[in-house]
Amino acid sequence: MPDRPYVIDEMISAKQIAARIEELCRAIRTEFADTDKLVVVGLLRGSFVFIADLVRELEMPVEVDFLEASSYGNEMESSREVKILKDLRGQIEGRDVLVVEDIVDTGYTLDHVLHVLKSRKPRKLKTIALLDKPSRRETSVRADWTGFEIPDEFVVGYGIDFAQRNRNLPYIGKVRFTGEG
Ligand code: IMP
Repeated sequence: MPDRPYVIDEMISAKQIAARIEELCRAIRTEFADTDKLVVVGLLRGSFVFIADLVRELEMPVEVDFLEASSYGNEMESSREVKILKDLRGQIEGRDVLVVEDIVDTGYTLDHVLHVLKSRKPRKLKTIALLDKPSRRETSVRADWTGFEIPDEFVVGYGIDFAQRNRNLPYIGKVRFTGEG
């Protein structure tokens, strides 16, 4: 699949992302106003750029931790069966936690991760997703905050990959195939 030639059309600019993160951080700060130190949990690997910008804009005490769930691998379709490949380093019992996801697509990943984290009894557990593809949802999960709702397109950039490529684009672009591979 990744060997088919493709181009990337810009969908959301770096400037739009930065402006939206400012708005989202205002809402997050209000929600966690009484929190001493927020545990910000990034879902690897797609959220690594988003979480970096998010914690810097948050301007409140945070701890950063990461969790890796199985994802698409090299495919463009969700496998539906989600496994935890790399767990958190820290404890979250009694803590205030913000889970940071790149894209909610079918919702299986976020649904599973929230189920696992809830069982560890955090005081408060909230979620933020940079992108949401509501038309693809196969579960009832919803992020508490969403950056942008997008149509059913395969996107890359700003941390998000296509078979491990294009994560380092500063904007979100959609993949458009240009011919047979
Ligand atoms: P879900 O379990 O189907 O909601 O899938 C969520 C994960 O699939 C995301 O965290 C991404 O890693 C990956 N994913 C979903 N849509 C895309 C896309 O358009 N481009 C790249 N990865 C995607």
